[in-house]
Amino acid sequence: MKTDKNKKILELAGLTKVFGGLVAVQGLDLEVKTGEIMGLIGPNGAGKTTVFNLTSGVLMPTEGKVLFNGEDITHLKPDRIAQKGLVRTFQANTLFPEFTVMENVLLGCHLQADIGFFEDLFPLASSRKKRDRVDEKAMDIINFAGMHDYRRETAKNLAHGYQRLLGVAIALAAKPRLLMLDEPVSGMNAEEKTTMMELIFRVREQGISVLVVEHDMRVVMGLCDRIAVLNFGRKIAQGTPSEIQNNKDVIEAYLGVDE
Ligand SMILES: Nc1ncnc2c1ncn2[C@@H]1O[C@H](COP(=O)(O)OP(=O)(O)O)[C@@H](O)[C@H]1O
Ligand SMILES: [Mg+2]
Repeated sequence: MKTDKNKKILELAGLTKVFGGLVAVQGLDLEVKTGEIMGLIGPNGAGKTTVFNLTSGVLMPTEGKVLFNGEDITHLKPDRIAQKGLVRTFQANTLFPEFTVMENVLLGCHLQADIGFFEDLFPLASSRKKRDRVDEKAMDIINFAGMHDYRRETAKNLAHGYQRLLGVAIALAAKPRLLMLDEPVSGMNAEEKTTMMELIFRVREQGISVLVVEHDMRVVMGLCDRIAVLNFGRKIAQGTPSEIQNNKDVIEAYLGVDE
């Protein structure tokens, strides 16, 4: 896919969220350029997940705007936002634990393919063809995520690392243009982390932009083109991984502290 690197896929402008008296996100300006992997880091409680919730329509901002591909999506509902290509994963797994890998991904594809409930109950020739295409697409995604050998495995029986890969596969079924990942390698061992990083790089190679929240600094620094740092809801720094690693404010607020 051809990408214009200077185009912004996502633009947050003056984004603010107040919970009761608590200002969780304050006047945040943030851009994700088309085709880049952007990181969002900061201490626990800094507001990172709230930024994801505001961007994906789960929460409405108190102030500010969310622009996706130049379009104001601030007041759209999560399903409309996802349809436009802004797709997220959640901090915890959101799989159907009793379904197989294939069924989980198929479900994601079906939601996207808009096959009516009645068509599923009374399959017509046309919708059967549509279903074959969806099956094929689900297999492509499972192969892409490196999960071919596990396609018949029940989600709950997968190792943690594979459950998280499946979470990304389900998100890919929704055809993202921007994929937002909340702590994709949390709880993983070193090998699982490397596998997830490789998948995220391959996602980007498909022309999909990525915004990732992650605490693991080796992963963040190895993965991201640029990083923004949040502290108490405010952006305190932004730059390349090496700029962020050498930023005094960041070291003081976050990197210097063992979590
Ligand atoms: N739905 C909510 N209602 C009230 N307070 C919330 C809610 N969500 C988050 N917060 C608060 O907002 C702040 C930022 O939280 P969060 O965005 O989860 O931080 P992070 O993901 O960076 O750890 C925290 O103080 C948290 O307690
Ligand atoms: Mg969080």
